[in-house]
Amino acid sequence: MVSRVIPVESFDLVIFGGTGDLARRKILPGLYRRFCAGQMPEGARVIGAARADHTDDEFRKLVADSIKEFVPAGRRDAATIKDFAERLHYVSIDARGDKGWSALAKLVRKDVIQAFYFSVGPGLFGDIATRLHKHKLAGNEARIVVEKPFGRDLESAKALNAVLADSFDENQIYRIDHYLGKETVQNLMAVRFANVLFEPLWNAQYIDHVQITVAETVSVEGRGAYYDKSGAMRDMVQNHLMQLLCLTAMEPPSKFDPDAVRDEKLKVIRALDPVPAENIVRGQYGADKDGDSYIAHSENPASKTESFIALKVDISNWRWKGTPFYLRTGKRLKARMSEIIVHFKETPHSIFEEDAGSHANVLTIRLQPDEGMDLRVTIKEPGPGGMRLVDVPLDMTFADALGPDAEDVPDAYERLIMDVIRGNQTLFMRGDEVEAAWSWTDPIIEGWQQRGDQPKTYEPGSSGPEDALMLLHRDARRWREIRK
Ligand code: BG6
Repeated sequence: MVSRVIPVESFDLVIFGGTGDLARRKILPGLYRRFCAGQMPEGARVIGAARADHTDDEFRKLVADSIKEFVPAGRRDAATIKDFAERLHYVSIDARGDKGWSALAKLVRKDVIQAFYFSVGPGLFGDIATRLHKHKLAGNEARIVVEKPFGRDLESAKALNAVLADSFDENQIYRIDHYLGKETVQNLMAVRFANVLFEPLWNAQYIDHVQITVAETVSVEGRGAYYDKSGAMRDMVQNHLMQLLCLTAMEPPSKFDPDAVRDEKLKVIRALDPVPAENIVRGQYGADKDGDSYIAHSENPASKTESFIALKVDISNWRWKGTPFYLRTGKRLKARMSEIIVHFKETPHSIFEEDAGSHANVLTIRLQPDEGMDLRVTIKEPGPGGMRLVDVPLDMTFADALGPDAEDVPDAYERLIMDVIRGNQTLFMRGDEVEAAWSWTDPIIEGWQQRGDQPKTYEPGSSGPEDALMLLHRDARRWREIRK
């Protein structure tokens, strides 16, 4: 199999916050990888813009260092880093003042695709959008890319949408949720809508329940102040887990086109039931043997912020009524593991002896690590001794099935940036979708704030609080174990 690199038109990509953490870790190394893949056409340029004074050469050095730090050794070499660096420029700019804007206006070309990446806090979105407009920097075809968090509740998201809408049309605004750029997430759509096998069974009649787990081993170290204001609900559920839920639950769109897909996702969000207190478990990790705990990184020693959350979510529509979606995410857990697990129902009647055992089919969609899918099917245990049933995996680890091509799978950011250049919004959130997501999230957060709920303490390196296990046990179900 040969990887296909789809050519894109030439572009000028300006990264506001071009020397910041996200730019250094993800955006610039991602662009370098696309450059190596031959996807950065002749003349395409990347312009870093940030407050600090730097020359082009200093910026190039900073980017080269980031590539060395964040691109594995086998995937980079000094000669291509040098060639890539020639595409880089830098402008020192004041997002809230006038400094740098005329210089930027002179640099950005009008006859190529213009993209402006707002890799800055949401507090600056409005300032930058307004100045781009005022300095006539962005043409009608220009695109802006905005990072999460997109607001912290419905009201602030609406205000952000309004401020961006003053200067840009919706079809110019690319709201990033990097989970949508992950290979397996897109594969979920391919599996559902390019195969006849699953779709007829993809409903409450045949699916018992769905589990979505995004477990992380990392702590909130260095991000305590941000996390105190967000918590796992705002940081992970309102966006990443919600997107995974939408893609699993949505109706087939009429075509794979941005608005058709986003219309269907929006319908799912609007069909989500409010979540009662008994269907929510929040947790906060306690101290490990070195005394490192959530509180150790928090600015508030009495913080009630959750670093873990599990929810049972019901969708009130014809397809899903009666099939719960259990969501769970947390930091400092046992392993890094993100999976969507679709538990089918058992056969309506077993023709085999009771002691043959019975097993339901389970489809696992693994986002990370080891992207792939696994469908468990029930077969006869080989050998004599009558009919005994076992379930065995039909495993499709992408790395095995696709060979070396699987290693060339672009990182989520690379793919999404190239989609911006191509002008394809399918994997980006539309304004109404983000607002709908907050409309569902806000009452849940307000509910626990009003009740004064305390998060349950859980041990670092565990699967989260006991109560999260109970959320499924009481429904006679079990979470898939969080494992390496
Ligand atoms: C980010 C969150 O959006 O996603 C982080 O702010 C989280 O808290 C990260 O760690 C997880 O992303 P990934 O791609 O490593 O699963």
